[in-house]
Parts: sequence; C-alpha cells; structure tokens
Amino acid sequence: MSTYTSTALAHPNIAFIKYWGNRDNALRLPSNGSISMNLDGLFTRTTVTFNSSQYDSLIINDRAVIGKGLDRVSSILDLVRGIANINERAEVSSVNNFPAGAGIASSAAAFAALALASSRAAGLILSEGQLSRLARRGSGSASRSIPGGFVEWHMGAGDDDCVAASIASVDYWNLTDCVAIVNAAHKKTGSTEGHALAGTSPLQNARVADAPRRIEICRKAILNKDFEAFANIIEHDSDMMHAVMMTSTPPLMYWQAATVGIFQEVRAWRANGLPVGYTVDAGANVHVLCLSEYSKEVEKRLRELPGVSDVLVAGVGGAAQIL
Ligand code: PMV
Repeated sequence: MSTYTSTALAHPNIAFIKYWGNRDNALRLPSNGSISMNLDGLFTRTTVTFNSSQYDSLIINDRAVIGKGLDRVSSILDLVRGIANINERAEVSSVNNFPAGAGIASSAAAFAALALASSRAAGLILSEGQLSRLARRGSGSASRSIPGGFVEWHMGAGDDDCVAASIASVDYWNLTDCVAIVNAAHKKTGSTEGHALAGTSPLQNARVADAPRRIEICRKAILNKDFEAFANIIEHDSDMMHAVMMTSTPPLMYWQAATVGIFQEVRAWRANGLPVGYTVDAGANVHVLCLSEYSKEVEKRLRELPGVSDVLVAGVGGAAQIL
C-alpha cells in the first residue's frame, strides 16, 4: 500500500467581531458572521501521513493524544476520506510554536493546518473556500485561518457558502497584536461547550441581531485604516460577547481582576493619544491591538501592569500554506 504525506502550516487568528454560538452545532454554522486577523510568527505545523495502520493516531508537541482530541481530528479525516474516496488511516503529527494556555486559540491554527495537510496528503487540491469549509468542521474559527491577512467569515445560507475570505491582504494595514498574558487561576470552559450555552443568555438574540451592523463598521474601519473607529468597535463587540457569556446558564466568567485593569489602562492610553484597543476571547488574556509603530511602547506599558506575566507580540499573518 502506498503512503501519502503532506505538511502544512497555519496561523492562529484574533477575532475583531466575535463568533459565539452556532445555529447548527454539528456543522458549526455560526449564529453570526465574524472578522479576524491572522497572527504572524505564531503557527501550527502539521504533517499528515495516510498509511496502512488500523487506526488514526495523533501526536501534539511530541505527546500522543487519544480520546476526544483524537476523535475530533478523525472526524475531519473522515470527511477528507469521503471526498477523496480512500480508506487509509492517518498519522497526524502537530507542533505549535506558541505556549499552550497563552490565550491564543490553538484550535483555529490546528484545524486549518489539518484541513490543508490532510486533503493534500489524500491527493486533493481543494479551493480556499473548500478548505475553509473543511477547517470549520473542526473548529469554527479555523475557517478564518485558511485565507491570509484580514478575514471575514460569512454566515452563508448553509454549509456550502459558510466560508471565510480575505477582506484585506497581509500588508494592507500595519497592525500589531500585543497579547497580555494574565495568569488564570481556574480552568476555563472550552469554546465548544461555550457555543452551546450562548442561546441560554437573553442577551444573545440582541447580540446576533446587531452583528451585521458591527461587521459593517469593523470592515469599513479596516478598509479605511480608521484606528479610532476600529478600536471602538472591537471593544464594543468583545464586551457584548462577554456580556452573553456572563449571563448564560451556567454563567461563564472568563475575566480576572487584571483583565479589567488592562481594559481601563488601554482606554486611558487611547484617550491620551496612543492608538490602542482591546479584545478578549474565551479566556482572561487581553489582546491589545495597536498601530505597529507603537508596539514597542504598548508592550513596555503592558509589562509594567499588575498581573501581566508575559506579552506576546504578533503582526498580521498570511494564509495557511503547504510546506
Ligand atoms: O472556533 P472556536 O469554537 O474555538 O470558537 C472561537 C470563539 C472565540 O475565540 C471566543 C471568538 C472567535 O470568533 O474566535
């Protein structure tokens, strides 16, 4: 039996207009569209080899993974096997160059790299849209790590057109994400369980109904390189998602005291002329976006704040690619 192998690299992304809640959990069709930026310098590199073994296997950062983590990967491999009409099991080996628990959603880069490497190893050359759909089935936000630069994930009418596409290229606007790492004291609820709770908040319907307005403002702010409008809308959107999280049943509270402290500093810095704005995913760490020329200053200020143990710095990242 022949062996087919391929290696791909993908970047994580930070959402400016957030995805929270699905209209279809199995297909991961989101309740609202979203916008993000890929993070340069941070990546997942994944090698997929189809061979004659009896089971799929998964190694992440040199450690074997079984159970739910492996099942999630196998479900993507099953989709690929279905399209390519093959039956071989696969060996999947993945490396992240960013620390686990650093407030960077690793599932986005992981499933984008897996979609690209596994389809190519199976002999398929899929379009960007097809890859985005495939990655989406592993993790919704992974659909946004397939195209490069600034990306919009469209809700679509169904599975076929629920895909992400670039709205601006990597070098369109020099933004930097300074991720302030706040040591979270408790284990967080993962996003898959979180999406399922979104509908229990009475605020979710209002958040979803208003999403097209926020997407429009955010897309325009990026295309016009209007930092003030950009900072205002990403903070507003992040706060709305966390309002839904906090008012779900059971409630999800991802923020720590230090998280809120950073919000207040960031707003004060902006009021005093420093172009910065914050956004937070399903964790306590704060992504502080700034114009790249100010990133050294922003990093220095963040490091001085109480509760900040580290700061990761990332520019705008490119598309997922075969190595
Ligand atoms: O793709 P998931 O299921 O890990 O969900 C991502 C959810 C957020 O990071 C909180 C928001 C987003 O749009 O990335």
